[in-house]
Amino acid sequence: MKYINKKLTIENISVENIAQKYGTPTYCYSYKKLKENIYNFKKNFKSFSPLICFAVKSNTNINLIKEIKKFGLGADVVSMGELMMAIKAGINPKKIVFSGVGKTKNEINYAIDKNILLINAESKSEIIEIDRIAKLKKRKVKIGIRLNPNTDAKTLNQISTGKKDNKFGVNEKTFFQLVNYCKNSNNLELKCLSVHIGSQILDHKPYQKMLSVIDKVIKKVNYKFEFIDLGGGMGISYNNDKKKLNYKKYNTTIKKFLKNHKSKIIFEPGRSIVGNTGALISKIIYIKKSEKKNFIILDAAMNDLMRPALYGAAHKTLPSTIVNKRSNKTYEFVGPICESTDKFATYKNFQKLKEKDLIVLCDVGAYGMSLSSNYNVRPKPVELLIKGSKIKVIRKRQSYKDLI
Ligand code: LLP
Repeated sequence: MKYINKKLTIENISVENIAQKYGTPTYCYSYKKLKENIYNFKKNFKSFSPLICFAVKSNTNINLIKEIKKFGLGADVVSMGELMMAIKAGINPKKIVFSGVGKTKNEINYAIDKNILLINAESKSEIIEIDRIAKLKKRKVKIGIRLNPNTDAKTLNQISTGKKDNKFGVNEKTFFQLVNYCKNSNNLELKCLSVHIGSQILDHKPYQKMLSVIDKVIKKVNYKFEFIDLGGGMGISYNNDKKKLNYKKYNTTIKKFLKNHKSKIIFEPGRSIVGNTGALISKIIYIKKSEKKNFIILDAAMNDLMRPALYGAAHKTLPSTIVNKRSNKTYEFVGPICESTDKFATYKNFQKLKEKDLIVLCDVGAYGMSLSSNYNVRPKPVELLIKGSKIKVIRKRQSYKDLI
């Protein structure tokens, strides 16, 4: 996204043109950025060519998943719906891993029937359940066990998953017991140790700590894992902040680890693949003046983009056209929903805005549309894929008929 002659453009198309043709609010994704992200991700770890399983939860648009599949990625899924979606998008089941603490009987049945690469189990009860179902089906099922490495990912508490107080994975002691359980089962084939310590991680040190815990655990348990699934979590820069994940150091640590353990690495990235590909275009409905600030009331709301309300997340907020006048009033960008948390950002010295101006919320490709809802009976936005000068509708705007 860049300004050309003061007009914000996505690839070769101006935001104004997109809004004129498709209305607002509208989600747009840049194909070029998607391609670049996948290429960079692969490049960062090319010496050991990992299996990259796209975390479908970050963006569940089937047409986008189809594009991602074309680059050879697999999928990380966490529900029956996501598994069906990944398969429908054409992802080879041999490249699908299934995570999550509460897989139901139906979900396990379906995953076994589809012959996916791995079911990553997260508790003793789940392993017993997979074992039971596999036995009934007279099948040998490939599984992983998710270890909780008790590692602080140094990210937001709400999206941290690798500490011992989090519900995810099992601790070392249980891990050892479960490895033994699997060894004694005729229906389970233990193939993988998996971890995922959290999301939006910008510091490589937690990853280093996580790998040293895995190293220690594998040495103790003395078991050869065909796969080590390191999860996802690689953070992106949301606010032009300089902090960036040091992929080089992460890569070096993994390479060192692989000298002692001859396993295939799996990653489950979501945000780092799609996060910065997405933009949400919205229109200012009203500007409401108050004593201390002006409320910029957008036609996009927390139901369209939940991250600010849920995590206090900040998304860069840009005008579609640059004007050279600054406002001396503080601007608070809000949605029309009846909740005080329905606000996106507060800015001082923003350029002067007027009603009907277009505003773009940036970096919404991950956990944007996938976390959206129909709260307040608001139809979900249209999703567009921008490729050079071409626009493809990859999901239609919901209609009131869909909802009522
Ligand atoms: N693998 C597992 C097991 C996960 O739970 C997640 C994310 C991922 C992979 C992908 O993580 P990523 O590479 O995207 O960081 N809604 C929050 C993020 C929640 C992440 C949940 N798990 C947000 O909007 O920031």
